[in-house]
Amino acid sequence: PKVAVLLGGPSAEREVSLSSGRECAAALRAEGFQVTEVDAGPDLAQQLQALAPDVVFNALHGRWGEDGCVQGLLEWIGIPYTHSGVLASALAMDKERSKQVYRDAGLPVVESVLASKDEIEAAHVMAPPYVVKPYNEGSSVGVYLVMDGANTPPRLSPEMPETLMVETYAPGRELTTTVVGDRALTVTDILTDGWYDYDAKYKDGGSRHVLPAAVPHEIFDACLDYALRAHRALGCRGVSRTDFRWDESRGLDGLILLETNTQPGMTPTSLAPEQGQSVGISFGALCRWMVEDASC
Ligand code: DAL
Ligand code: MG
Repeated sequence: PKVAVLLGGPSAEREVSLSSGRECAAALRAEGFQVTEVDAGPDLAQQLQALAPDVVFNALHGRWGEDGCVQGLLEWIGIPYTHSGVLASALAMDKERSKQVYRDAGLPVVESVLASKDEIEAAHVMAPPYVVKPYNEGSSVGVYLVMDGANTPPRLSPEMPETLMVETYAPGRELTTTVVGDRALTVTDILTDGWYDYDAKYKDGGSRHVLPAAVPHEIFDACLDYALRAHRALGCRGVSRTDFRWDESRGLDGLILLETNTQPGMTPTSLAPEQGQSVGISFGALCRWMVEDASC
């Protein structure tokens, strides 16, 4: 079958997507698929109609590629595609609205509000410590942490969008769980020297992954359970990855669901493929499964 791998695109996570897409394209070629790499620009519909692939492998991250936009285009032109559909993508990418879905499913999240840049810079929108971030980007692009005891509200860079999410800071360890179909794979504990920011995510040696995470059984099982429930509550398809913070001093009550990623990274330092490998699913087999699972 002919597979078009969508990569790049215009989002703030363009470079991450180029890396994910190239890895997946190489793996699919090795699996025997005929693969074309398509850098997703405004002429995407024309490019795909000319190529007429059997399946689109969506390796885009962030806005337009992970938020339901490209999924809508693919529905419209009728090409089966990997990962989640329009609604699940749009919901999961909106960090504020997805919280309502998580709450309704009985999943633990922290309080947050949407506020304008002016409001955020004028006065503390909530008591520190809190985090200011775009509600619809990934890879920790544009995340500000306002520490406990901070006197002044943050000064935001001019590139930040007009409306942002302000969220209670959830302290603790970074845990994550990948879901493949109806199976939650395992739990990774992500160790960093500081914040698990863009560099820690993608620089070689920027973070250390402990897999399976050395956490109590109760926490391990809760991560598997919550990740699967989040995947289902959002209506995700294929692969997703749900990120958590765990404040170990508070036991199970200290486990917070941060977000579900419907287009988890597939780069050499990414978590989902590493989890696959740890349970016996090679990178190539994972990519093949995604192509076989594609629909529209
Ligand atoms: N947003 C990045 C790609 C991730 O969640 O893996
Ligand atoms: Mg994300």
